[in-house]
Amino acid sequence: MTATLPDQDNAIFERLLRGSAKQSYDPEVDVDWDAPLVDGKWGITPERISIYGTELWDSLTLEQQITLSNHEAGSMVSAAVWFELMLMQVMLRDLYDDDMKGAHMHYALTEVADECRHSTMFGKTTTKLDVPAYGPAPKIHAAGRLYVKHVKGPAAFAGILVVEEILDVWQREMMNDERVQPLMRQISRIHVIEEARHMSFAREEVRRGMHGLSRRQLMTQRAMVAHVVTLVTKALVNSQVYASVGIDPKVGLAAARSNPNYQQTLNEWGAKSVAFIREVGLLGKRNEKVWRGAFLIP
Ligand SMILES: [Fe+2]
Ligand SMILES: [Fe+2]
Repeated sequence: MTATLPDQDNAIFERLLRGSAKQSYDPEVDVDWDAPLVDGKWGITPERISIYGTELWDSLTLEQQITLSNHEAGSMVSAAVWFELMLMQVMLRDLYDDDMKGAHMHYALTEVADECRHSTMFGKTTTKLDVPAYGPAPKIHAAGRLYVKHVKGPAAFAGILVVEEILDVWQREMMNDERVQPLMRQISRIHVIEEARHMSFAREEVRRGMHGLSRRQLMTQRAMVAHVVTLVTKALVNSQVYASVGIDPKVGLAAARSNPNYQQTLNEWGAKSVAFIREVGLLGKRNEKVWRGAFLIP
């Protein structure tokens, strides 16, 4: 993945660079950080809350449901920071051997710069929502560190694509939902626009990375993607969020995992990227059970 790319590949990166120059945001000025939260608005689209529709959900008052929505919003954006920190490391490591004159490197650096701003924006959002910086559970956090160290090949960008598309579908819906806090809608808008370019880049990197893999390498790549998507789907909602409304985290987590509505949500959030990963041959029959366990395929 260095200097000798065919012209048509470079054309993609040049197009992405032009798109970045035309439409990028600075959340420091494009988000109104001084505006107070609006009473009665939700942190995320209520139907996407992990325990929505369960008996446990029905046992909460409206006020508690809204509180939980703010904590799930905080958990999702802090999981996004966790993931963006991993992907920046993977991308910068790849660039160590790249051609500094090439559009590939120029765009990749632009993307890393986008992610720096996103992670700052998401971090500030947890402060604004007045919720803990949840991040993933400690075991997942540790597994992420290990994953970053060892992942290489198309699996790295396939994992990135799955997360970017999960966040994209979640945020696209939320930015158009008037019941949701203006703060969450605005950060969603910014992220959706900039991530559209990132997803094009990730798809391109996966396609390029698939060339010339041996059968054995393909198996390893498939297993790596299945492993990371499992980590990611578990990282989205930290079970400690349930304690914010007096629910035992273990009870809340069990309710979420067995909730058909939440399973369907994950399925919808992942559908586009899963179809792509299947199409390029990175899913593999043997791993279907793992993907199903992550609720990314029905
Ligand atoms: Fe991002
Ligand atoms: Fe991204």
